[in-house]
Amino acid sequence: MKFFVDTAEIDAIAELNDLGMVDGVTTNPSLIKKSGRDIIEVTKEICNLVDGPVSAEVTATDAETMIAEGRKLVEIAENIAVKVPLTWDGLKACKTLTDDGHMVNVTLCFSANQALLAAKAGATFISPFIGRLDDINLDGMELIEDIRTIYDNYGFETQILAASIRTVNHVLDSARIGADVITAPPAVIKSMVNHPLTDKGLDAFLADIKAAEIKIL
Ligand code: G3P
Repeated sequence: MKFFVDTAEIDAIAELNDLGMVDGVTTNPSLIKKSGRDIIEVTKEICNLVDGPVSAEVTATDAETMIAEGRKLVEIAENIAVKVPLTWDGLKACKTLTDDGHMVNVTLCFSANQALLAAKAGATFISPFIGRLDDINLDGMELIEDIRTIYDNYGFETQILAASIRTVNHVLDSARIGADVITAPPAVIKSMVNHPLTDKGLDAFLADIKAAEIKIL
């Protein structure tokens, strides 16, 4: 399973990248706003740091302008994936940009039928939003399962990029189902290390190290 980091914060990306945890990065207009940076500048910096796909989202809603924006974004670096919304115009832009040979991430996916259309339009990645479905008392993981089944039934190569991940259990369930990629905020990825029995066990070992004056260096 690939790990993408869902942020435009350079320091957070660099910290995880140094540990080999970063297979790619996803950004969106809200994350760019949060960073307070210019989209082109910050995206270029991220692309210089990370080898894998870096998703940068278009701002337009009509296909023609989305395509023009996408063509500008891909000039930033070879590893740009153009992010387009799951609308009819977004699908048109997806088809044109993938036909041009670019990676496209179709975002704001909330149904399996939408994911089917994105695959037909040649999307490199489909981004189903788990957390936002959970927010309205629907089952985000059920959507990941449905898309996995449908893509496997027909051999679609579009990669399932589980997004809007808010908890470590979202990561675990996505891995169990076989999502190709998860994109998560740095804090969620880092909190995967936590377990109370690890802390308890380490405390006991440290007490014994002190009591027995065990030294290595
Ligand atoms: O990858 C999409 C993500 O940024 C949305 O997450 O928590 O705003 O639903 P959230």
